[in-house]
Amino acid sequence: MFDRPAARCALYGLINNSLRDMTIARWGADRWELVAARAGVADIIFQNMSPYDDSLTYSLVGALSEETTIDASTLLRDFGVYWIRVVAPKQYGDLLAFTGRTLPVFLSNLDRMHDRVATIFQNLEQPSFSVEILSDTALKLHYRSRRVGLAPFVIGLLEGLGERFSTKVSVTQIASRGDGAEHDVFLVEHGAA
Ligand code: HEM
Repeated sequence: MFDRPAARCALYGLINNSLRDMTIARWGADRWELVAARAGVADIIFQNMSPYDDSLTYSLVGALSEETTIDASTLLRDFGVYWIRVVAPKQYGDLLAFTGRTLPVFLSNLDRMHDRVATIFQNLEQPSFSVEILSDTALKLHYRSRRVGLAPFVIGLLEGLGERFSTKVSVTQIASRGDGAEHDVFLVEHGAA
């Protein structure tokens, strides 16, 4: 299993719905019902705009991992790719387009983008990102969150952004809260912007 958050946070239902959609697209509706039952979820349709305790999302990922025998960090990474490839363009195409046309610019604008999202979703417990440009093809991405265990999700999101910008992206986590660092840091190597 993976680390669970120490503090109580709530994630909007759209995250759980996206996880359901990925599960159904990849393994079928029957499998999703098994996952939901294993996670003890009675109502398997979530309200996109309602907050749900984080523990529900973590339970769903844990149940999916048990049902598919794929480890949770691989699933979270796949979920990050799926989110950028399928969910974000369909539901937040304008936001994606306004956030930046190259990977470094897009990543530098992530906090501003989540600030805009926070005007729609009240009480958003948004992550925070900052970028250190190292060269034309490398940067460090600093990720801070009240939540733990989501670093693989961030890696998947970055890989999804690589697809979006048609650039090869290689991500290495170089600092980890799990190992006592104050926050997670990723080295992102990418094609020239
Ligand atoms: C148009 C694109 C995006 C939208 C609309 C969006 C919106 C959101 C929303 C609504 C949440 C849930 C927060 C909550 O319920 O409290 C969230 C969480 C998150 N977002 Fe974004 N996001 C987008 C793109 C990205 C990208 C590109 C990244 C990173 C590369 C990212 C990183 C994260 C992470 C890691 C979380 C989990 C929460 C946490 O770490 O504390 N998001 N985002």
